Amino acid sequence: MQIKHHLAEDTIDDKDISALIDWLKTNSRLTKGPLTLEFEKKWSNWWGKKYSVFCNSGSSANLLMYYVLLLSSKLKNKKIIVPSAGWPTTITPAIQFGFEPIMCEADKDTFALDVDYLEELLKKHDPGAVIFVQILGVPHKHIDKLLALKEKYKFVLLEDACAAMGASHRGRKAGTFGDMSSFSLYFGHQLSTIEGGVVSTDDQEFNNLLLMSRSHGWGKDLDPDSHGALLNKYNVDNSHNPFIFYEPGLNLRATDLQAFLGLRQLDKMDWLVERRSRNHHLYKKLLGEKFYAQSYDNDIVPCSIHFCALANDSAERKTVADALHKNGIETRLYTAGNLGLHPFWANRYGEAHFKWADELYNRGFFLPNHPSLKTEDVKFISKVVLDAVKR
Ligand SMILES: Cc1ncc(COP(=O)(O)O)c(C=O)c1O
Repeated sequence: MQIKHHLAEDTIDDKDISALIDWLKTNSRLTKGPLTLEFEKKWSNWWGKKYSVFCNSGSSANLLMYYVLLLSSKLKNKKIIVPSAGWPTTITPAIQFGFEPIMCEADKDTFALDVDYLEELLKKHDPGAVIFVQILGVPHKHIDKLLALKEKYKFVLLEDACAAMGASHRGRKAGTFGDMSSFSLYFGHQLSTIEGGVVSTDDQEFNNLLLMSRSHGWGKDLDPDSHGALLNKYNVDNSHNPFIFYEPGLNLRATDLQAFLGLRQLDKMDWLVERRSRNHHLYKKLLGEKFYAQSYDNDIVPCSIHFCALANDSAERKTVADALHKNGIETRLYTAGNLGLHPFWANRYGEAHFKWADELYNRGFFLPNHPSLKTEDVKFISKVVLDAVKR
């Protein structure tokens, strides 16, 4: 069956491609250069953050957040609370960099960290950091409690907003709650630069470490004052400037070609938030009574990449998936579901079972959402799902 409705579609359109071709003909610099700086500035302005660092994927953005945390003065110990529902690379840098990851249950409302479960872990382990995911573009319903816990237990909060760009909670944008927040600009996310990622922060120490870690550990991307301070601090031979390497760095840069696309995608933010949000509300209205789905209050703007629903059990999920396929509608099981059941985790720490994360693993499925999806498409897809289960 030919696919009529894809799960995701790119926001890079024909006009972007034509503009890109024209730009390429100007012999511009393609690797990281002035457009990257322009893009980072525009990104920071949109989110109201002080600093943003563009890198080559959302996974690299997460990797950078963990690494920078290690290099910083802000980590009281290497224990980190990680979510059971999220994406593997929300967690895998903890393993790669020798943290002690402790997994937390998903909350029943938005499938982000369960704040009550989290508090028990905080009391028991007193971790240096917590990372949470803004799941699928529906902001964490209990974010106020999460921020209160941060004050009480004094941990660094990392926010994985890789799939939540454009969503907001009482006027505050997803991606502005963490001490550092990551974003993914991969195909099918709210906006795309082919591949790409961003870390945003208000903290200058984090920003300087992000800039150095992203590019070989050198200081030449820092502002002159910060770089000058490092030169003084280490008293190094200035004749090597700007190629002085202060930290054991990586190379996770994106390119100006991607920044060119990113600048154009940011101009579409209002449009794509409106469309994705409209579609999400409609799915919720049509399916919400029969299917368990993320819940949110009126003052939340969801900006989802897919609509996630839970079937009654895995057999019913298969019935729904078959009906969707038959009607040319792309679907997918809830991707990853409970991360604690995947070999990368289970082989090291044993299988981790949690009530809600297991429900996602066993019953969750995705329906298409993207800005080009029309209301009649959402109605049609919802009808196929409802007809499939007849309950
Ligand atoms: C929550 C979350 N974090 C991180 C990532 C990784 O982003 P990327 O695919 O750009 O590496 C994804 C990808 O879908 C994601 O959904």
